[in-house]
Amino acid sequence: MLTILEPTPESLRKAAEALRAGELVGMPTETVYGLAGNAFDPAVLARIFEIKKRPFFDPLIVHVAEFTEVEALVRDVPADARLLMERFWPGPITLVLPKTDRVPDLATAGLDTVAVRMPAHPVARALLRATGLPLAAPSANPFGCLSPTTALHVAEAFSEGIALVLDGGPCRIGVESTVVGWENGEPVMLRPGGISLELLEETLGKNVAVAANGGEASEGKATASPGNLPWHYAPRTPLRLLTSVANDIPSPGKPGGGSSGLIWFGAEPAPEGFVLVENLSATADLAEAAEKLFAALHRLDAAGLDALVAVMVPEQGLGRAINERLRKAAAAPVDHRDQRNRLK
Ligand code: TXA
Ligand code: MG
Repeated sequence: MLTILEPTPESLRKAAEALRAGELVGMPTETVYGLAGNAFDPAVLARIFEIKKRPFFDPLIVHVAEFTEVEALVRDVPADARLLMERFWPGPITLVLPKTDRVPDLATAGLDTVAVRMPAHPVARALLRATGLPLAAPSANPFGCLSPTTALHVAEAFSEGIALVLDGGPCRIGVESTVVGWENGEPVMLRPGGISLELLEETLGKNVAVAANGGEASEGKATASPGNLPWHYAPRTPLRLLTSVANDIPSPGKPGGGSSGLIWFGAEPAPEGFVLVENLSATADLAEAAEKLFAALHRLDAAGLDALVAVMVPEQGLGRAINERLRKAAAAPVDHRDQRNRLK
C-alpha cells in the first residue's frame, strides 16, 4: 500500500523534496487526484506514462501555482486565453497553448502546444509552491480506468512507483478540468469538465466549438485532443447507459439472472431490484452529481456485481462532463472488463 500523508508543513516538505529528486507524488486537486512529477524532466515524464500504462501519444497537463510560471511554458497567450485565466484560475480549466522549447516533447506527445492549468486546491498550491517547479500531472489512475477522487482511490490503484500521496480529502469538483484549445484563432472545448460550456461562452462573449468526442487517436497521428479516445473512465464491471428513464425503465434482471448496481439521479424513487443504488443527487443538482460520480462508480465497481446501469443526466452545465464520462465508461471493450477477474 502506498503511503498516504495528511498535509502538514512536514509532509509537504517531504513531498516537495521527493518531487525535486525526480520521484512521483499523488497530489489532490479540486477536480481529481493527479500523479505529479517534474514537468521539465523527461525521465520523470517517462515514468508517469509507464506507471499509468498510458500511451505516449496522449499528452500531459502541466500545473503551475503562479501566473509568472506560464512564461517559461507558453510562447503566446491569446486574448481569449487571458480572459479565461483571469476569470477561472486558479480553477478547473486547462488551456492548450503554443509551447516553449523548455517543455519536453514527452509532456506534449510531440505537439507544439502544451496544456497548462493552475489548480485551486490549497494542498496542490502549497505543494507547487514548495517544489518550485511546474508539475506534470495526469489523473492518478491506470490508463482507461475510473478517475481518483480520494487519496485511497490512488493508493488502491497503484501499489508502487509513487513516493507518497497527500490526502487533500474528497475532490470538490469531482470531474477533470475543462480543456480548451484554439483552432485558427477560435476557441474549441476539447474536453468537457469542471467549467461549463455555458460559462466559457458567457466569459468569451462568443460561441465555443465543441471537439468531436471520441476522436480517433493512434500512434504517430495525434488529433486535436489526443486524449479523446473512444472509451475511458471505465469500471471493470460492464456498464450500460439509459438515455431516457421514461422510455427505458431499467430492469436489473438479465435473462440469466445476475446482480446489478444502479447510478441514479434526481428525486424520483429509483426502480427496484438493484442490489446497490447510488443516487448522484436527490435534488438533481449537477454540481453535486459531478462531485459524487467517480466515488459512486468506485463503490459499485468494488461490490462484485455482474452489471451496472447508469441514467444519464441533463446535457447542460456540468451534465455535459458527467455524461461524457458515462458514455466513455460504457464504451469500454470486453478485455478491459476481463481484467477484473485477474485483479480479484
Ligand atoms: O482536472 C484535470 O485536468 C486533472 C488534474 C489532475 O489536474 N488532470 C487530468 O489529466 O485530467 P489527464 O492527463 O487525465 O488528461 C489530460 C487531457 C487529455 O485529454 C489530453 O489529451 C489533453 O488533456 N491534452 C493535454 N495536452 C494537450 C495538447 N497539447 N493538445 C490537446 N490536448 C491535450
Ligand atoms: Mg485522465
